[in-house]
Amino acid sequence: MAKLLQIDSSILGTNSVSRQLTAQIVASWRAAHPATEVSYLDLAVNTPSHLSAESLGFCLPAGAADLSDAQQRENAVSEALVSQFLAADVLVIGAPLYNFFIPTQLKAWIDRVSQVGRTFKYTEKGPVGLAGGKTIIVASARGGV
Ligand SMILES: Cc1cc2nc3c(=O)[nH]c(=O)nc-3n(C[C@H](O)[C@H](O)[C@H](O)COP(=O)(O)O)c2cc1C
Repeated sequence: MAKLLQIDSSILGTNSVSRQLTAQIVASWRAAHPATEVSYLDLAVNTPSHLSAESLGFCLPAGAADLSDAQQRENAVSEALVSQFLAADVLVIGAPLYNFFIPTQLKAWIDRVSQVGRTFKYTEKGPVGLAGGKTIIVASARGGV
C-alpha cells in the first residue's frame, strides 16, 4: 500500500491558504488512489528544534563519541522524522512564503531529514540524493493568494 505523508507548516491555523491546498490535494489523491495510507505531520504544532550542538549528534560517526542524554533525545527526534520521510512514497508539503522564505518550522524539518548516508551522499561530482522515486507535491502560498 502506498504511503502518503501530508506536512503542514503554516502558522496561520484555520486562515491558512497552504493548509487548504494540502487538504484538497490529499483529498484528490485519496479519491484517485483509495488504497493510500495517509499520515500527517503538523510542523506548527510539533516543531523540531533548530539544529544545535545537541541535535547535531546524528552527524557523528557511530561510536565516535558518547552521546549525552540531550543528544540521544534529539537523535530520537531526528530518527523519527527521517524514518517517516523515507517511508513515504508521496509527500504533500504545505510551504507558505514568510519573509521571502519558507517557514522556519519547515526549514527545521529539512535540517532534521538531511542526513548523510540516509537521504543524500557526497560524491566526487557533488552531493547526490538517496531518496529518489518519491512523488513530492509542494503546496505553495504567498501574498495571501
Ligand atoms: C510573517 C509573514 C511573512 C510574510 N512574508 C511574505 C513575503 O515575504 N512575500 C509574500 O508574498 N507574502 C508574504 N506573506 C504572506 C503569506 O505568504 C500569505 O499569507 C500566505 O497565504 C501564507 O500561507 P499560509 O496562509 O498557508 O500561512 C507573509 C505572511 C506572514 C504571516
